[in-house]
Amino acid sequence: MNNPYLPYPVRIQRVEIATEDKSLRTFDFEFIHPEHAEAFTYLPGQFAELSVPGYGEAPIGIASSPTEGSHLTFTVSKAGVVTSKLHSMEEGEIMGVRGPLGHPYPLGEMEGKNIVILAGGYAVTTLRSTMVWLLHPDNRDKYGEITFVYGARTPGMLLYKDLLEEWDARSDVNTYITIDNEVEGWDKYVGFVPQIADQVSPKPDNAVALVCGPPVMIKFTQPVLDKMGWTGDQIIMSLENRMKCGVGICGRCNVGPYYVCKDGPVFTKAQLDELPKEY
Ligand SMILES: Cc1cc2nc3c(=O)[nH]c(=O)nc-3n(C[C@H](O)[C@H](O)[C@H](O)COP(=O)(O)OP(=O)(O)OC[C@H]3O[C@@H](n4cnc5c(N)ncnc54)[C@H](O)[C@@H]3O)c2cc1C
Ligand code: FES
Repeated sequence: MNNPYLPYPVRIQRVEIATEDKSLRTFDFEFIHPEHAEAFTYLPGQFAELSVPGYGEAPIGIASSPTEGSHLTFTVSKAGVVTSKLHSMEEGEIMGVRGPLGHPYPLGEMEGKNIVILAGGYAVTTLRSTMVWLLHPDNRDKYGEITFVYGARTPGMLLYKDLLEEWDARSDVNTYITIDNEVEGWDKYVGFVPQIADQVSPKPDNAVALVCGPPVMIKFTQPVLDKMGWTGDQIIMSLENRMKCGVGICGRCNVGPYYVCKDGPVFTKAQLDELPKEY
């Protein structure tokens, strides 16, 4: 990326209403110029600024994996100015993507280890990317056991249902999909992510946990992991601070000594424990 403020033009290839309450939409984008697709090299955990002319930019985690080809996938919650405009946009429309930004999950350091993924709500986006990447034939053998726990309020709020079924059917992933309360016809888990994590009781030996979800999930997951003996440097999280430039210049996302956009958004729990609670 030469000018870090310049978005690449992309075309909306596909729009999907992702949840029953219509608050989330999943977008696939294709680069208009093949050289931009080549220049946009990313890994799971990174994000991009989605740029809508006349409305502004919003930082959104990349939900696709580079192993899926050159298109990019994002799942966007309708929150305010930019994301509401995005929700009104249709297939074929042109907009911009600026990035990739931030650091990915430490996939190299995770090699040879068991991986535990704990995801809640739509924070699962970059973990979708991670799962697709880990399970790719080129990568699967580099990692040990993979445990994936993902919860949403209701079945209709679960994202990426086709992939969830695929992962559930695989013998090399322990998949636990859960909803908050029992509903008729639901044959998977019932309970909040921390409760299911407690039941699953993933061992910390030679393992890394990626934990992303709403603050309440993080709050109640932490003591569960503590009880099992997980240490702060084995737990990896991703922050979603307000941002502007996305490249460590404007200071908007500063927490303690870090710019979340440039030094994160991925941090270990041990790093976050050292920070003022501004995130
Ligand atoms: C690294 C990163 C990854 C993210 N990934 C995703 C993702 O995958 N999917 C997704 O839907 N969202 C994601 N977000 C959150 C997303 O960036 C905000 O919801 C978005 O910027 C809102 O933009 P807007 O212009 O629509 O809203 P605005 O008009 O700017 O604001 C609308 C409301 O949302 C609040 N708001 C704005 N930004 C944030 C924020 N970062 N956190 C909490 N509240 C905010 C505002 O205070 C206001 O109340 C991510 C944020 C970061 C920093
Ligand atoms: S958003 Fe500008 S420094 Fe992070």
